[in-house]
Amino acid sequence: MPFGSAIITGAAAGIGAALARHLAGTGTKVVLADVELEKAQAVADAIIASGGAAKATMLDQGDAESIASLAEAALGWIGHAPDLVVANAGVGAGGAIFKTPRRNIDWVLGVNLVGPIELARAFVPLMIERGMPSRFVTTASEHAVGLPSRGGQASIYTISKHGALGFAEVLRRDLEGTCVAASVICPAVVNTDIWNTMRNRPAQFGGPRLLDEAHKPDPALGLSSDVAAARITEGLEAGEFYIFTHGQDISEVHRARADELDAALARFAARYGEMA
Ligand SMILES: NC(=O)c1ccc[n+]([C@@H]2O[C@H](COP(=O)([O-])OP(=O)(O)OC[C@H]3O[C@@H](n4cnc5c(N)ncnc54)[C@H](O)[C@@H]3O)[C@@H](O)[C@H]2O)c1
Repeated sequence: MPFGSAIITGAAAGIGAALARHLAGTGTKVVLADVELEKAQAVADAIIASGGAAKATMLDQGDAESIASLAEAALGWIGHAPDLVVANAGVGAGGAIFKTPRRNIDWVLGVNLVGPIELARAFVPLMIERGMPSRFVTTASEHAVGLPSRGGQASIYTISKHGALGFAEVLRRDLEGTCVAASVICPAVVNTDIWNTMRNRPAQFGGPRLLDEAHKPDPALGLSSDVAAARITEGLEAGEFYIFTHGQDISEVHRARADELDAALARFAARYGEMA
């Protein structure tokens, strides 16, 4: 079923922008919340020009006060708690975890893990109070279900996405018996601006670091964000919890991890007995 209203974070670019366009095309009123306000406004303007309803608003998902301001602005514009919140904004940093500077650890965990939790704290009680069927969605990654080699050694990113998946699973349990449901999106490689993710690192975490176009990955290696958004929308409208953009890739990573865990549990049972 289409959603009446939605708040999408990180909607100025990539998967978030495509999702906003896609949902607006199905009649959803969309709030595009992003730290890059001008770009979010341009996406909103294009949606409005094609007959949709959209509002761009400033958000730093790593900042609880900014999330409180988003709640105020979005509720004022929509007129009530939203039918859908997608905590999509995400950032990354590379390198082995034991060499990762503390500022990158704080920045990535703040946006990717604490951000969705803060968004849930801000919006879920209002969605429950409204009493309408609604959904809180977290964007994790294929990096949430194992240690995929794609994307390089993005250690703190991978840790944040394992946390985001854990958060979504906990939220699903905590929402049982309410009118709000949870979903988690686990994309694999989608052609977006994520390769230049450090463009948005705030001053207190070391400031922006811009990569040149030579670092841009070959688009042939990824899915277009519009196709990813169409697949995600289909999963959301069907009320699914785990939503993927790719099949086989993630399946292999997940299987390898599950096989290793199964083998460790079988070793335990052989050593101490099934009931130990
Ligand atoms: N592209 C992929 O291959 C891929 C794969 C797996 C998961 N993801 C996840 O999908 C989500 C969207 O990423 P994308 O690939 O579209 O990247 P992107 O860089 O193209 O878009 C991310 C958007 O988030 C915004 N943003 C960054 N920091 C923010 C903050 N603190 N507060 C608010 N907005 C902020 C950016 O301005 C940008 O508009 C992220 O959570 C990312 O981790 C992407």
